[in-house]
Amino acid sequence: MSFRYSFTVFLFFILGGCEQLLVNGLGCNWGIQATHPLSPDIVVQLMKENGIDKVKLFEADPRAMQALGRSGIQVMVGIPNDMLAGIASSVRAAEEWVSRNVSYFLSTRGVDIRYVAVGNEPFLTTYNNRFTQTTFPALQNIQAALIKAGLGRDVKATVPLNADVYQSDTGVPSAGNFRSDIHDLMVSIVKFLNDNGAPLTINIYPFLSLYADPHFPVDFAFFDGTASPVVDGSTTYNNVFDANYDTLISALEKNGYGSIPIIIGEVGWPTDGDTNANTQLARRFNQGLINHINQGTGTPKRPTPPDVYLFSLIDEDAKSIEPGNFERHWGVFYFDGTIKYPLSLEHGRNLTAAKGVRYLQRQWCVMSPDANVMDPNLPERINFACTYADCTSLGYGSSCGGMDVRGNASYAFNMYYQTMNQRRGSCEEFGNFSIITRIDPRVQGSSCRYEVMIDNGRHERVRNPGTNSGGNILCSIVSWGFVLVLIVCCYLI
Ligand SMILES: *[C@@H]1O[C@H](CO)[C@@H](O)[C@H](O)[C@H]1NC(C)=O
Ligand SMILES: *[C@@H]1O[C@H](CO)[C@@H](O)[C@H](O)[C@H]1NC(C)=O
Ligand SMILES: *[C@@H]1O[C@H](CO)[C@@H](O)[C@H](O)[C@H]1NC(C)=O
Ligand SMILES: *[C@@H]1O[C@H](CO)[C@@H](O)[C@H](O)[C@H]1NC(C)=O
Repeated sequence: MSFRYSFTVFLFFILGGCEQLLVNGLGCNWGIQATHPLSPDIVVQLMKENGIDKVKLFEADPRAMQALGRSGIQVMVGIPNDMLAGIASSVRAAEEWVSRNVSYFLSTRGVDIRYVAVGNEPFLTTYNNRFTQTTFPALQNIQAALIKAGLGRDVKATVPLNADVYQSDTGVPSAGNFRSDIHDLMVSIVKFLNDNGAPLTINIYPFLSLYADPHFPVDFAFFDGTASPVVDGSTTYNNVFDANYDTLISALEKNGYGSIPIIIGEVGWPTDGDTNANTQLARRFNQGLINHINQGTGTPKRPTPPDVYLFSLIDEDAKSIEPGNFERHWGVFYFDGTIKYPLSLEHGRNLTAAKGVRYLQRQWCVMSPDANVMDPNLPERINFACTYADCTSLGYGSSCGGMDVRGNASYAFNMYYQTMNQRRGSCEEFGNFSIITRIDPRVQGSSCRYEVMIDNGRHERVRNPGTNSGGNILCSIVSWGFVLVLIVCCYLI
């Protein structure tokens, strides 16, 4: 009896240790700006099967929130920037938001909401101070509303900030401080977060460092060594992620908040839409990052690694491409939950694709073999297709870049046809330039994919109960196997 008791305690102890050691857990961002979003139930199942236990939403989308109910996934739910002014100026608006978008989903739907993200990168210099006055009051009002709703302990308000809220004049992390134009505001916000036991949330994008500066040393963006490290006194930085993170820690230390908890709200690498955006580099970055976090050694200035939310879970073909063509290709998965590249999330566990996705017919709209590529009306037709559908894969250095006019036209026509749900007449928009084919136009060995869209027909219920149990059994086997290995190791020690 007592043996069994102590064995159980021992197991709990070890399992607790596992949680600390491995299941730092992995988070991801789930955006829904897509013409054909996956059904929320499929997305939640996708996250569960891949061991993603935290999710960040950009708004309290009711369907996403409902699907997350009782899923065991922790949620950070966002308030879009355009709601900040209203919430900043009205305590009531803040209370309403908390009541409808936090209390309701928490108590009625069992959504495990842990954080409210007030705004999204509101201090980006490109916003020209549009949200500078409203962000902090909105944060204060949401925090007060959470406390009033009795959620002050369980749900924390934070603000996901772009990494350009801090900088280093000399380029070394130890010289880090907050950007001068928002220095005092940042200190006030950090003090407020700290007083409320809330974390600071920062988005870090090595890809954008590389995108913005053609002289940026490519290897320094990754985690496998570089010929151009940053030497900061006795510390050497071999990757920009650590250097950037420690620049933040220095900024916090200088202002008296060196130990505030930090969350990485977004980090990732796109796979298309730029010469540096492809599956090889995305895999190299994300795998490097995951391994780096799983090592558990943190950075020179902060030995405990932060919680990380990958950007992003799935591609979104309706996002604004103002930042660049890559903006629609940040997903670890394609728009339909298929796998882009192998990734080992935790200890050899490979990615699993989404299950139960229903597609439109396997047919494509392509340029007719009889049509003339020199026809002066063709460019205008391609342009029409690309105005309504996503052609960001056609650009220079992208997955469908470098094709001839015929390839371009076929790609554009098909994207339009699919985006229009293969609707009757949508391929005919291109007159005798186009035909429908049942042969996948994809050229063997080419990276260019001719998609068939998800069937989002309203009458169809895309649900797939019962896909869960297999995964769970496998998980149990794997985790029990791991426990056994640990026990053996402990005895050996
Ligand atoms: C809840 O969040 C949604 C999505 O962001 C928003 O449209 C809605 O206005 C919010 N509800 C309240 C009462 O603010
Ligand atoms: C993961 O995939 C790789 C191939 O990409 C394979 O060699 C390996 O065995 C897989 N691991 C597991 C745990 O299935
Ligand atoms: C194909 O389309 C891309 C993107 O619009 C363009 O840059 C390229 O010049 C086109 N190629 C041809 C041969 O027209
Ligand atoms: C395509 O259709 C137009 C009229 O819509 C016609 O003038 C043209 O000759 C046709 N071209 C071919 C190759 O059939």
